[in-house]
Amino acid sequence: MKTKKKLKNPIFCIVAMNENRIIGDGKNLLWHLPGDLKRLKKMTMGSPLIMGRKTWDSIGRPLPGRANIVLTNSVTWKAEGAIVVNSFKDAIIKADEWIDNNMEINQNITQKKIFLFGGAEIYKIGLEYCDNIEMTKVKFNLKTGIKFPKLNESDWEKTKLEHNLAKNGVPEHSYWHYRRII
Ligand SMILES: NC(=O)c1ccc[n+]([C@@H]2O[C@H](COP(=O)([O-])OP(=O)(O)OC[C@H]3O[C@@H](n4cnc5c(N)ncnc54)[C@H](OP(=O)(O)O)[C@@H]3O)[C@@H](O)[C@H]2O)c1
Repeated sequence: MKTKKKLKNPIFCIVAMNENRIIGDGKNLLWHLPGDLKRLKKMTMGSPLIMGRKTWDSIGRPLPGRANIVLTNSVTWKAEGAIVVNSFKDAIIKADEWIDNNMEINQNITQKKIFLFGGAEIYKIGLEYCDNIEMTKVKFNLKTGIKFPKLNESDWEKTKLEHNLAKNGVPEHSYWHYRRII
């Protein structure tokens, strides 16, 4: 069985976390994984991203070739390159509109797919809308920080796609696809 949420375009969650589900410390990037960044760019290009205002702040600029939809409670907050919304429902509406409009101009690169881009607050709201998670698991010794929500493990079929050993200062990490089965 899949998510009961009725969606025009599917929402894929994308995340990198360590063994303790830590995704960030709210300030700096915890790890530098050049391969993962390339993979993320390739996967998300031509799609809308839904992110929290704190994640937007941590990136500090819009990611090109994608809609940068930013959730905030503020009715005055704005930033160049951000599509600002005040609710998750509006984020989905803006994402669907962006896909429709962009499909007309940029048919070759536009994907009929939305990405749940984080951080923890936005994963918490949006995960129930996702049947798929693109997950990077990083071997990184850290016990406290901002955490990805705890998944009900039996709801998900997990496929390991690639494993990379530690090399040149880049920590060991692997790419996984999670598909909701319940
Ligand atoms: N490793 C990864 O894959 C990954 C991915 C993304 C982010 N991160 C990390 O995660 C951290 C940020 O995560 P976070 O959980 O602290 O923050 P966040 O989820 O990025 O943003 C939280 C903000 O979103 C807004 N928001 C949340 N729920 C809302 C709602 N229902 N309606 C309207 N606005 C809402 C609020 O903005 P206002 O305060 O403006 O109202 C809130 O402060 C950073 O360290 C970042 O680097 C890691």
